[in-house]
Amino acid sequence: MADIRLEGVGHSYDGGRTWALRPMTWTWQSSRAYALLGPSGCGKTTLLNIISGLLSPTVGRIFFDDREVTAVPTAGRNIAQVFQFPVLYEEMSVYDNLAFPLRNRKYPKAEIDQRVRRVSQLLGLDDHLKRRSRRLDPGRQQIVSLGRGLVRSEVAAVLLDEPLTVVDPALKWTLRSKLKEIHRDTGHTLIYVTHDQTEALTFADEVVVLNEGAIVQAGEPTELFLSPAHEFVGHFIGSPGMNVVPAEIAGGVVRVAETDVGQAVSDQEDELEPGPVRIGVRPEFARLGGEGASPGLPVRVTGVDRMGAYNLVHVRAGGHPMIAKTEADTRFAPDTEEFLHFAPDRAFLFRDSVRCGSISPLDGLDGKGAS
Ligand SMILES: Nc1ncnc2c1ncn2[C@@H]1O[C@H](COP(=O)(O)OP(=O)(O)OP(=O)(O)O)[C@@H](O)[C@H]1O
Ligand SMILES: [Mg+2]
Repeated sequence: MADIRLEGVGHSYDGGRTWALRPMTWTWQSSRAYALLGPSGCGKTTLLNIISGLLSPTVGRIFFDDREVTAVPTAGRNIAQVFQFPVLYEEMSVYDNLAFPLRNRKYPKAEIDQRVRRVSQLLGLDDHLKRRSRRLDPGRQQIVSLGRGLVRSEVAAVLLDEPLTVVDPALKWTLRSKLKEIHRDTGHTLIYVTHDQTEALTFADEVVVLNEGAIVQAGEPTELFLSPAHEFVGHFIGSPGMNVVPAEIAGGVVRVAETDVGQAVSDQEDELEPGPVRIGVRPEFARLGGEGASPGLPVRVTGVDRMGAYNLVHVRAGGHPMIAKTEADTRFAPDTEEFLHFAPDRAFLFRDSVRCGSISPLDGLDGKGAS
């Protein structure tokens, strides 16, 4: 196991015209379970292939601890990679497929048997060990591929590229918790690629969010939910995603659709420049009703989705659609006027999609009025 460090690593497939992966400096820490989350085409597979050596980056250097591996081929990197679709020897038995990576590296026979049986038991393959892989359904074949990736002990990292896509949804949950169990067991560094937020949030110690070839935020699942550092994280994580509407800073106060909603608080030491910003608040922290320090933002209710456990109340604020998540027993009705409050510690300001600040109550305890 090693820290995997990328220094200024980037990749272009078209001779530098566009970046599939923008040059980035980033360390994957040894023994952690990461989810690499992002939409289709954002560069997830490109990033994995650069780590494993299948792809040589256009720029930058790669280190495993202090050893530079930029020019080291795949075989010398000691990485186990599991792809989206089964990669196995169809004519071999399941047992032999699992044993193959170990035999290849001259593990002692007894250890091979012990490891194959351990992985087989964890992944529920015991009844299939003697069967030819060709005879298994694609989902089961993929589980064997997964097993091949997990069977070795001494790998620098296990890279999993959407490994459960072809697996039956009911089995997915089981396999994901097995993966967690295996991770606890072996302490492998895991990088698990997915574009499914639930999969990422339930699996990982740390979720790394990739968008348009760049890491926009990395953190624990709660951090990404409560404190998004980029508009994309607000949209992509959460269901429904964060509301983001245009706002304006003037005299230190944030205005939305002609209404003062709070004092602007900069994330940095220096104050926020006046001018246009965007304000984001998750539906969970957009409160409807009369309470709150300020009168709130006048909105018109346009519809209510009753979800059973909660309601999603759709509103319009000065032409901008927003959603508030309310308790199931609230009775907001379409075509009525309400006030929407931004929970002060849960509403954030964005410029060029990057978070620059938050808001504090207008009648804050610090006694500073709108100046
Ligand atoms: N071999 C290639 N040649 C040219 N362009 C490529 C190649 N592989 C990927 N790309 C482009 O690079 C970008 C990143 O692709 P990549 O496959 O890494 O995305 P991804 O996040 O894995 O997407 P998905 O979720 O669909 O698997 C995309 O714009 C893609 O079209
Ligand atoms: Mg991919």
